[in-house]
Amino acid sequence: MRNTVIVGAQWGDEGKAKITDLLAEYADVIIRYQGGCNAGHTVVVNNETYKFHLVPSGVLYKNKFCFIGAGTVIHPETFLKETEELKKRGVDLSSLKISPLATITLPYHIDIDGISENTSGKNKIGTTKKGIGPTYSDKVGRYGIKVQDLYDEEALNSRLDAILPLKNKILEKVYGSKIYTKDEMIKYCKEYAKIFEPYICSEWVDKLTKSLKEDKKILFEGAQGIMLDIDYGTYPYVTSSNPIGGGAATGSGIGPTHIENVIGVTKAYITRVGEGPFVTELKDETGEKIRTIGGEFGTTTGRPRRCGWFDAVLSRYCVLVGGLTQMAITKIDVLNDFDELKVCTAYKDKRNGKIYKDYPTNINLHNYLEPVYETFKGWKSDISNAKTIEDLPENAKIYLNKLEELVGIPIKIISVGPNRDQTIIIENPFK
Ligand code: IMP
Repeated sequence: MRNTVIVGAQWGDEGKAKITDLLAEYADVIIRYQGGCNAGHTVVVNNETYKFHLVPSGVLYKNKFCFIGAGTVIHPETFLKETEELKKRGVDLSSLKISPLATITLPYHIDIDGISENTSGKNKIGTTKKGIGPTYSDKVGRYGIKVQDLYDEEALNSRLDAILPLKNKILEKVYGSKIYTKDEMIKYCKEYAKIFEPYICSEWVDKLTKSLKEDKKILFEGAQGIMLDIDYGTYPYVTSSNPIGGGAATGSGIGPTHIENVIGVTKAYITRVGEGPFVTELKDETGEKIRTIGGEFGTTTGRPRRCGWFDAVLSRYCVLVGGLTQMAITKIDVLNDFDELKVCTAYKDKRNGKIYKDYPTNINLHNYLEPVYETFKGWKSDISNAKTIEDLPENAKIYLNKLEELVGIPIKIISVGPNRDQTIIIENPFK
């Protein structure tokens, strides 16, 4: 068994899609297990750029079973736009399937997300305004609509009867927002049923059971990152799902005993979009330099990303809560032109000098924390053509060895540029 989870081990945008794309070639089944169209996964193949939001990037290979699991939330119009775009570019989507248990993002979820963000002033989360939080809230509150509900008129009617009266009261009285009639919602749902029809996979239990029996190689594709996890991230500045390795089990329908590897994808530095604590954030020209060279602007929202030095304290925490077994380091080439590099090895409380080697999960404390850094010499050369570890300059090797030592798990993949062939694969879990 080699089944492997790919999870972001920072605040998202770590370059998971590239790693997923590389390993998908060797996998038989690729499952996206959480999140929704808040994700923006960019893959570059033969200098062509593909941007994914919901669809697993494994669709770029033929004959893989690509599955969007029950842990996801799907906005039908965005899904339609994404799939149409891929089809126009010649991508065959016949192997793409959706769990009937995935939850649908409805128009009012997007309305509520927008209003909440626009009215919460300095308390805003900085969400992608894609309706993610309100959709997951309804799912957990048992006010959601699942993909399978769209194909059963009686069930859909009764779901809407249960949901709409209360939802409309909240929309009108709390948010001062547009309300939706039942007829309107039925019309939307009919459209959605058509959108999902070619993809819904009612036989998913059989399909996944057979995949396990036949020892097929399964790749679980996470979205966002561990530090945005609803339970273990920097709450409330998080998304509303579980990107951690354990989320792959709940969100895919394949239990934890079938998972062997969890690859934590981390940049050689760190970024975050939206609000929330960020101990190693660089608000100076060094941060600006990383943002410019790294092209650090959101795929989904275009927002500039906040940039900072690699945080080993946070990474060690991700190893624990994410169940990481190895790291994939991405965008190390972005650091080609720095005289010196820093890595955060501990946090220090400015008020009393207290040192934290383990990540303090009380984020109220983070305003008072400053990073304790170890400094490294830069390599000041272009490493974007390196094919093996041996091709890397000595200072890059020293930097990577130190990351391994500080985080406590091995680095098995190093990405030195956006293209598929700009990758050093030390060990492929599927080979
Ligand atoms: P939401 O997921 O849209 O509710 O946004 C909640 C937080 O997660 C915000 O800080 C977003 O910027 C962040 N976020 C959501 N999706 C991504 C992603 O794919 N990459 C990076 N940050 C994300």
